[in-house]
Amino acid sequence: MTQSRRTFLKGATALGAAAAMPPRMGWAQNTGFSQIAARPASMQLAPEGYAQTDVWGYDGIMPGPTIRVAKGARVQRQFVNELPQASSIHWHGIRIDNAMDGVSGLTQDAVEPGQTFDYDFVAPDAGTYWFHAHNQSVEQVARGLYGALIVEEDEAPDIDQEEILLLDDWLINPETAQIDDYFDASHDRSHAGRNGNFITTNGDYQFSSDVKQGDRLRLRLINASNARIFVLNLAGLDGWVLAYDGMPLDAPEKVDGQFPLAPGQRVDLFVDVTAEEGEVAYLLRTLDEQLLPQAAFPVTARSSGATRGAPQPLPPNQSERISDLSSATAVTLRMEGGAMGRLSTAILNGEEMTFRQLADANQFWSFNGVIGMTDSPLASLSRGELVRLRIENETRFPHAMHLHGVHFREVLDDGQLGPLRDTLLSFAGRTTEIAFRADNPGKWLFHCHMLSHAEAGMRTWIDVA
Ligand code: C2O
Ligand code: CU
Repeated sequence: MTQSRRTFLKGATALGAAAAMPPRMGWAQNTGFSQIAARPASMQLAPEGYAQTDVWGYDGIMPGPTIRVAKGARVQRQFVNELPQASSIHWHGIRIDNAMDGVSGLTQDAVEPGQTFDYDFVAPDAGTYWFHAHNQSVEQVARGLYGALIVEEDEAPDIDQEEILLLDDWLINPETAQIDDYFDASHDRSHAGRNGNFITTNGDYQFSSDVKQGDRLRLRLINASNARIFVLNLAGLDGWVLAYDGMPLDAPEKVDGQFPLAPGQRVDLFVDVTAEEGEVAYLLRTLDEQLLPQAAFPVTARSSGATRGAPQPLPPNQSERISDLSSATAVTLRMEGGAMGRLSTAILNGEEMTFRQLADANQFWSFNGVIGMTDSPLASLSRGELVRLRIENETRFPHAMHLHGVHFREVLDDGQLGPLRDTLLSFAGRTTEIAFRADNPGKWLFHCHMLSHAEAGMRTWIDVA
């Protein structure tokens, strides 16, 4: 047999083997797709000595793998559902192509177990974002289906170290260390939502990362919990807020005392380590007047560089400045219901029901008198329309209202506009106004990010033609 013939045969055999192989799910790889699979996993969540906790994670880890791309880059992920229930992925905070927003029941069908969905979108804005399950979210996010999505600035800012910190709380059985699977608990749904009894940062209840005195850290904080409003504080760290919900502030704000981080919200901090070598700097949380470590930063050395002074702002993402709201379309969202609320009746599935009947259906919250998604949107907008949305919180609870697909600004009391955000903390009994330009066409969900509240009625949507 000649050399060339042997080579040919070898080639033919290899080809034959490839052709006989079942089509692989990752087949689209050469077009830039890689897979992200949701599946059950277990991890040491509770302290040593406790059993491992069964969680659901992306690629079998919790938090899921960090997705990190350049500003303006395309993200291509084939989602593979290896869970026992249908799922989808939402890319929280991205000004995304509507078809890729991942809201099962609105922008796509939920992906059934064993099935896949190709997510393919551009990440137009630098900043700190996250992704999470968006089907039966109250269960799927609680089981761990989330991860960070980082879009880098064109030019890297001047920092020494970066920490992506996903804050979460877990409701786990202290004996078995397993996740409490009573996700429909009517008490959670009608009160403050599902609050956990075990608090973690990146799945670690004693998260720690070594730092140097004098170094500047960028902390990317993401609240991935179902309902907890983290109240945070710094110790041994001199900090500035550079961005909220991914969007840079015009001028960094000095951190002065405690600050809240509601479910779904992010904040980018630059912090300079002021604690001495041998000490520990902290991100702290306030709980019942107590200050507890949320993340520890042991100071193991001194920085060689000079201290920097106040940071420069991050480069802005969006250029439009809304200045005149006089032509804005006015929309009102009245939120009612919940425990101790005044809701007497509301429409559920087209029928007027008493609060008692609603409670029997495990539904508690209404938007403009209606519970849950409606056929017609809260607002039908034409592309480019300016909107002034009034949110009247007539409940006894705070709500973290998240609008998909667009960032908005709060209209402050003096008429000025606040920073760009995608999730607004609305306080009990208060009215807040937000303004935004409806420049992204599609069906955009607007809901409470206290996920039990969303399941129990607090969901609506806007339509941008
Ligand atoms: Cu972060 Cu509709 O979700
Ligand atoms: Cu709520």
